[in-house]
Formats: sequence, C-alpha cells, structure tokens
Amino acid sequence: MLKMKTIFICQECGYQSPKWLGRCPECKSWNSLVEEPIEPAVSTSHSYLAKKEREKPTPIKDVITDHEDRFCTGINEMDRVLGGGVVAGSLVLVGGDPGIGKSTLLLQLLENLGLRGKRSLYVSGEESTRQIKMRGDRIGSTSDQVFLISATNLEDILKAIQEINPAVVVADSIQTLFTTHIPSAPGSVSQVRELATRLMFLAKETHTAIFIIGHVTKDGSIAGPRVLEHIVDTVLYFEGEKGHSYRILRAVKNRFGSTNEIAVFEMKEKGLEEVENPSNLFLAERPQKATGSVVIPTIEGTRPILVELQALVSSATGGLARRTSIGVDHHRVSLLMAVVEKRLGIHLQTYDVFVNVAGGMWIEEPAIDLGIASAVISSHKEYPLEAHTVLFGEIGLGGEIRAVTHAEKRLREAEKMGFTRCLLPQRNCNGIKTSASMELHGVQDIGEVFEILFT
Ligand code: TYD
Ligand code: MG
Repeated sequence: MLKMKTIFICQECGYQSPKWLGRCPECKSWNSLVEEPIEPAVSTSHSYLAKKEREKPTPIKDVITDHEDRFCTGINEMDRVLGGGVVAGSLVLVGGDPGIGKSTLLLQLLENLGLRGKRSLYVSGEESTRQIKMRGDRIGSTSDQVFLISATNLEDILKAIQEINPAVVVADSIQTLFTTHIPSAPGSVSQVRELATRLMFLAKETHTAIFIIGHVTKDGSIAGPRVLEHIVDTVLYFEGEKGHSYRILRAVKNRFGSTNEIAVFEMKEKGLEEVENPSNLFLAERPQKATGSVVIPTIEGTRPILVELQALVSSATGGLARRTSIGVDHHRVSLLMAVVEKRLGIHLQTYDVFVNVAGGMWIEEPAIDLGIASAVISSHKEYPLEAHTVLFGEIGLGGEIRAVTHAEKRLREAEKMGFTRCLLPQRNCNGIKTSASMELHGVQDIGEVFEILFT
C-alpha cells in the first residue's frame, strides 16, 4: 500500500516541519502542529477564469490610476471602517467570537446593498438557508437581491457565483468550507490558505467584493491560521463585551483605507443599529462626583471618542501590591505609578492599584497617560475631579507633559458633549481655537496638573 506523504503544519502561523514538534519554533505556540497530507501541486489552476492573455510589464507613469470602484453600503459606520464603502474586487476578512453578530452584520450589509440594487450571494457552511431566512425575518429583510446557498464545497460555490453573478459574496465561515483539491480537513491551514487564495483570484478577476467570516480563538487571532490575514485586503474585527449590547467593528488592516478606524453598533431585538454618537454611550453610566473617575478624549482611527477611565487605589493586604489594568497596557500603568511616586512624592508601594476603561474599550495611545495618573491620584486622595473636566497628554519619565496628535479634534468632541474645562499639553495649547465656554489649561509637568486638579 502506498503511504500518503504528510507534513506537520503549525495551525497558528503555517510553519512546516517534517516531524512533529511540541512547540512551533516560529510563533512559539504549544501543541499547534498538526499532520496534514502534502498538497499536490494544484495551485497552477488558481485562476478562476482562464487567463485571457499574459499581462506585460508597464512603465509606472503609464499605469492608469482611476479611483477604485467603490459603492456605499447604506450603513455609514460600515462605510467609514472600510475606508469609504465597499471596494469592488476586494477580499475582506471579518473576524470575531462566535455569537458576537458577524452573520447578522453581513446579512444586514447584503440587505442594504440589495435595496440599492446590488445583487449578492450569502454562502453559509454553518447554517441552513431556513436558519438564515429566520435571521433575515428578524432584521426585517425584504430585498429580492439577496441569494442564499448552504454549501461547504468551494467548487459548488464557484458554480453558484457564476450562475447568479453577484456584486458581493459572503462566505460564512472560512473554517467550514473546503476545496476537493486539498486532502486536509476543513479549517486546517492548507485548506484555509488555498480557499483564501482562490477567493482572492476570483474577487480580482470578476470584480466581486468577497467577505469571508472567520472565528477567532481565545487569544484573539483568527482561529487557526494567521496566514489568512496576510492574504486578504482588509481585516475587520467585530468585538464586544459579554453582557453589553454594543459591538465595535475595528479595521486592523486595510489596503483601501486607514486602519484603527472603528464603528460602534448596538445589538437590538431587530438586528444591529448604528451608534452615531459613541461618546454618549460610553459616558452614559458615569457616576457623578466619584473619586478615581476621569473623562478622556481618545482618538480611534480618525474619530474622537470620549471614554471614562476609572482607578481604584486601596491598601494592599499583605505581600506585594498589585497593579491590575483592563483596557490599558499594564506596563504603562506601572510606569506612570513610578513617575507619580518620584515626581509628586505620593507613595503607592503599599497600595493595590486597579485601572479600568469603562465600557470595555481598549486604548493604546499615550494621550491617556494624563488620565491614568489623574484618576489614580484622585482615588488615592479621595478627591473627585470637577465633573466638566476632560484631560489628555502623554507623560514622560521626567514628569513632563508631552504634546499629542489631534488636539483640536479631541477638544471639539469634548465641547460637543458639554465639557467646559480641559487640561492639555502646553505645546498643543498654542494657537488652538475653541469656543468661549471652554476653559483651557496648558500644562507642562505633572506637578502643575496636581496643583490645578487637587488643590
Ligand atoms: P450571529 O449573527 O448569529 O453571531 P455570529 O455569526 O457572530 O456567531 O448573532 C448572534 C447573537 O445575536 C444571537 O445570540 C442572537 C443575537 N441577535 C439579536 O440580539 N438580535 C437580532 O436581531 C439578531 C439577528 C441576533
Ligand atoms: Mg454566524
């Protein structure tokens, strides 16, 4: 009997090894190598349609650069995250935890496109067409341009696409589909890579926009293969907190627009609803006159959002003092605690410090430094901040307040939400225009901040 040739492939990063290894030498994940049959050389037939003729190299100055062919989805939030609408011929990966609402979001997208006369195909490898229809009823879909098919075999799906010639295709989910060209199981690295590559060719050649849905593992990567993220044009993550009804769609890679752009939705009885003013949502439950609570204007992509940052400083009971943070980097919190201790002489070694961004947002930009430090001091001193104050700025190790980007945008948003006082880096303060009702305090070091807020 002929023995099938196999190879071990890391399901996280695609690393290949002739023998089994407990840990992937490439991405260092444990127990991620899985035995897969060696792929036969099929990839010569990648091309979806027979290539008409070989493209010749062109001088760069002769390449025609008309705008990408884009169409609006009718969901403003979605359009913004995509960089101004769906690009014809693009391949978009939408990742997220099971149950977060990926299928709902994309069905709503197709419904909206249908109402604008765009034909689409929803391919589900997970649910029957009846189940999708039930979801459609829930979101009140009426369009006759949305076609459904329950299939898992890529070859069947390609036939269906040829048959109805849609402008947009949704493949739900990539982990359930397979192609018969590859002997490995659905969801394995080889399968997913091959599927994504074939879909990419299909998208480019037929000018179809294709959305593929992918499940996400606990550590936040698309289940199985990272390789997928490299193949596609755009990667969107759909995320939300358990027990909260709002959802955030985030672009983490986008060949056709800026990344870090976010869209906020709320999951309602009848599907997802756009949240046009997220600051409202994130500040809705803010306690008044509470110690350790500050409001910071952050920038997500191109848009300012006000969020509440909370700190709790309490006596450490025995042993090491804890530094716990949710929504901000804990190294950053430790570093800022050290600056506060050294520059202000506030001793925190015997206290536990907890920092939390209310509402489950995750903030990475350094402009929140001033917020973190102020919230911690406020909780430690049991001294609440005046309710109409916002603050932003990066803090250096010397305790100096450094300038940040988009100062004016942040101020505008704070004004819009009714805040009347803002602490910001002195360098950002110069030449900035605000309304008369906004009181500005340009600050240069943490000592100044302390004086303004806590004395
Ligand atoms: P779903 O789109 O199936 O999630 P995913 O494809 O990411 O696994 O949505 C799952 C949840 O959303 C489900 O628990 C029910 C809820 N939901 C609503 O609250 N309202 C609605 O209108 C719909 C369609 C779903
Ligand atoms: Mg689903």
